[in-house]
Amino acid sequence: MTGAVRAEMLTMIFDCLMNPAGPYQRHMVRAERVNHDSYGTPAAHFDRFFWIVRDVCRARVGAGWTPEMDTAWTEQIEAILTASR
Ligand code: HEM
Repeated sequence: MTGAVRAEMLTMIFDCLMNPAGPYQRHMVRAERVNHDSYGTPAAHFDRFFWIVRDVCRARVGAGWTPEMDTAWTEQIEAILTASR
């Protein structure tokens, strides 16, 4: 109701993406995937959240978004999602 959980989710995603996808991030995302199954959030929706954050950041950055940034975001998200399954 207050937006606190939404803020927590977004903060967690940025934390996962800005830190190397080490054991903590992989295990944490895997644990949240299981938690969200119990909330009724399908795994595909859970995963999609990461890509939506990338797409929104890309749109906000506009012309300043470089191919290198796109590659870095995509590789990091793929690494986290693949390792957390
Ligand atoms: C579309 C995708 C998602 C939906 C629909 C969703 C939905 C929800 C819901 C319904 C709750 C419970 C709220 C409550 O207890 O009041 C929740 C909590 C939470 N979500 Fe998400 N979520 C999504 C993706 C994610 C992702 C990708 C992450 C992080 C990697 C995340 C992290 C959290 C955290 C940290 C909480 C707090 C409670 C807990 O640890 O489970 N969520 N989410």
